[in-house]
Amino acid sequence: MKLIKTLVGCFCLMAMTSCGGNVHNHEGEDCCAEGKNAVIENIMARRSIRKYKNEVVSREILDQIMECGINAPNGQNKQSWEVRVVDNSQVMEEIKNTMNEAYPNMQNVASCFRDAPVMVFIARDKSYDFSAFDCGLMAQNIMLSAQSLGIGSICLGSPVRMINDNPACATILERLNFSEGYEFCLCVGLGYADESPAAKPRDKAKVKYVE
Ligand SMILES: Cc1cc2nc3c(=O)[nH]c(=O)nc-3n(C[C@H](O)[C@H](O)[C@H](O)COP(=O)(O)O)c2cc1C
Repeated sequence: MKLIKTLVGCFCLMAMTSCGGNVHNHEGEDCCAEGKNAVIENIMARRSIRKYKNEVVSREILDQIMECGINAPNGQNKQSWEVRVVDNSQVMEEIKNTMNEAYPNMQNVASCFRDAPVMVFIARDKSYDFSAFDCGLMAQNIMLSAQSLGIGSICLGSPVRMINDNPACATILERLNFSEGYEFCLCVGLGYADESPAAKPRDKAKVKYVE
């Protein structure tokens, strides 16, 4: 009995620390307190962040988050994604300038990045019909692991439309340098949150049990 308890304890500890440390919400409270489920707390605490502090996210933390990203479930373990992490503000500025020039009639089109200090650009393998799911699951792993490390996130679709739909943005895709056959399909912004938005309502009626 004692051995089983020890093994269960070890497993729980491994699960909690596998992506690095205890789970914290944006207020820095430890969500692993007794009686709480760290994973569920983490999922329920994550919200899209659109206001970030001017604070650098270390490469060590980013590496950990990306490691969690690529450990997402994915069809046939094809890993049908490619990821480009932009944490250099100068590179991000170049990208934003190109977008602003490409859309002269739109005011600050680059605000579609929501000013997140780190931008993760994700591309999917066009030859694999499930690659969009793979990329979505990876994005969720990125966002949840970030959340568990006290980093805010936002999933962004609008930069994809803006960049893919306008030939004047081709230099951005060249800069990101995805492999032949890959298509830019999603962005995830990361950074230290400077807001704590409330959860938006969810429609529970979307879920039905088939009796
Ligand atoms: C595929 C996808 C694309 C999204 N694109 C944008 C976007 O372009 N801009 C934005 O501000 N939020 C974007 N979001 C964030 C959603 O608006 C947000 O997840 C939703 O309103 C629910 O809020 P929550 O994430 O705080 O729970 C996107 C989310 C997903 C999953």
